[in-house]
Amino acid sequence: MVEPRTAVQALPAYRPGRNPADLARDIGVERAVKLASNEVAFPPLPAVVEAIAAAAAETNRYPDNGAVVLTGALAGRYGVDPGQVATGCGAVTLCQQLAQAYNDPGTSIAFAWRSFEMYPLLAQVAGARAVQVPLVPGRPGGPADTHDLDGLLAAIDGSTRLVFVCNPNNPTGTAVRRADLERFLDAVPAQTLVVLDEAYREFVTDPDVPDGVELMRGRPNVAVLRTFSKAWGLAGLRVGYLIAEDPAVAEAVRKTHVPFSVSMVAQAAAVAALASEEEVRARCAAVVAERTRLTAALRERGIDVADSQANFVWLPVGEDAANLAAALEARAVITRPFAGEGVRVTVGTPEEDDVFLAALDDIRAGERFV
Ligand SMILES: Cc1ncc(COP(=O)(O)O)c(C=O)c1O
Repeated sequence: MVEPRTAVQALPAYRPGRNPADLARDIGVERAVKLASNEVAFPPLPAVVEAIAAAAAETNRYPDNGAVVLTGALAGRYGVDPGQVATGCGAVTLCQQLAQAYNDPGTSIAFAWRSFEMYPLLAQVAGARAVQVPLVPGRPGGPADTHDLDGLLAAIDGSTRLVFVCNPNNPTGTAVRRADLERFLDAVPAQTLVVLDEAYREFVTDPDVPDGVELMRGRPNVAVLRTFSKAWGLAGLRVGYLIAEDPAVAEAVRKTHVPFSVSMVAQAAAVAALASEEEVRARCAAVVAERTRLTAALRERGIDVADSQANFVWLPVGEDAANLAAALEARAVITRPFAGEGVRVTVGTPEEDDVFLAALDDIRAGERFV
């Protein structure tokens, strides 16, 4: 038998999230609610659907491997040179490309933990050490839910090629503030690249949470990751981008790009979405309003929810996490548990969130936990 690499054998098997249609059928209800993957509940905007339809008619051809139109649109949007931009098949692929581009075996990647679950996996595949710096309480007496930037800085050594700072953090929704992040960036050694993973940037409302693209300017060892999957409503099409102060960083990422992996349809949709930014912003504002309502409803129920700057909330229920998610699922609500830590719940429509809250009340009325 041909053996995969040891690092690959050690990877956990992929466990797909529960599909709402399957769950609804299994438990005999009309509809299940999926609040597990931080998508937005809105369908793509009409102009985006039109662009998708037009691109679909040309899919006998390969896409533009350089994504020139999309790259130009992003460069214009952010006031950078196209050479500073790299597009990818979702931000997750760009994370992987960064590790491929910067991590030889024996080097390390540092990040907070708990954070985006792909960071340790991509380090492992690259043969790099994953240096995980535990989150700390963001509020006195609160749960450990916030980046420890001093701890992260102390964890960086000569082997550290990459540092991911997920801001706002997935899954806790907490964010680091401008002064702390600036101090951190100024202290990180020049040979370590800091990647500000801003997959949820568009949902940030606290003016003290900095825009990574602004912080990046003048700092050649800083890059920013963003995605069309969340606020822009294109999770199913797979397109994300990196913006780097130093064009050599974007160039290194482009060199590890799997050819043609950002499809023609994805490129066209992303360009159309960018042209519809005002409507996207209005949708984000609706998500934020619902986030406020959901947070208040959870606090009224005595659950210690931090202020989220993303499109999800974090229930720090510790050992009850797996049981709570299973009990919610039995009531047709799919969430994302992190065993022993908490449950992440995507902000859905008001109707979906009411289904979630009613399920939660039902569980609390009848069961011992939460
Ligand atoms: C923090 C963070 N970064 C990156 C991604 C990847 O997004 P995508 O690959 O859909 O662009 C996600 C998706 O959940 C995320 O939560």
